[in-house]
Amino acid sequence: MPGALNDRIFAWYYPKVIDRSEKAGLAAMRTRQLARASGRTLVLGAGSGLDLPHFPAGLDGLVATEPSSAMMDQLVRHPSVVNRNEAGRTTFLRAGAESLPFADASFSTVTSSLVFCTVDDPEAALAEIRRVLSPGGQFLFLEHVRAEDGSTMGYLQDRLCRLHTIVAAGCRPNRRTLETIKASGLVVDEVTHEEMPRSSFTVRPMIVGRAVRV
Ligand SMILES: C[S@@+](CC[C@H](N)C(=O)[O-])C[C@H]1O[C@@H](n2cnc3c(N)ncnc32)[C@H](O)[C@@H]1O
Repeated sequence: MPGALNDRIFAWYYPKVIDRSEKAGLAAMRTRQLARASGRTLVLGAGSGLDLPHFPAGLDGLVATEPSSAMMDQLVRHPSVVNRNEAGRTTFLRAGAESLPFADASFSTVTSSLVFCTVDDPEAALAEIRRVLSPGGQFLFLEHVRAEDGSTMGYLQDRLCRLHTIVAAGCRPNRRTLETIKASGLVVDEVTHEEMPRSSFTVRPMIVGRAVRV
């Protein structure tokens, strides 16, 4: 689990920094992506709660997980929770994606938004996603990733990775998350390559898509 002071500082500044990207189009990307959630739905690394207002009505329950206690404090205070009585349909649980305290095949949808840059063990997290998804269930991902091989941006993401992990609570800008998802046994049936609007170049390349447990 992310820890201590760095974690607390990140939880304080993250909502402020991401806000300009949200307003410039990231929130609209979340709406399009999360509108597809259905059935019992699990949110990984829910952070300060930016995904929560974008889920459709009529889910068979929403479970929001987050390993950081500092982020969890933000999460339960998110306006969507307070103003829209989100707490009525959402369960909050402190847990990391690598060890999910849920039964096998207990969710129809699992979502991650800007999380796989930070999880310590992406392969273990994907094995857990696969385990908790029911057959035919979907994993909806919206993640920033390493730029393509041979690009200057990819080179710089590699060079700056160490510094980035320090200032952004463990976030590695050069994760090849699409490849890791494909290697997990989940079947990627949709992916688009996007750019994080109004962001630092280190986190600009994004993938938005869906993988299915067959
Ligand atoms: C960049 S923030 C994104 C938060 C939120 N999902 C969003 O879209 O705004 C990354 C989040 O991943 C969480 N995180 C870190 N390690 C994790 C892990 N092993 N499993 C799940 N979430 C993790 C962090 O605590 C943080 O809340």
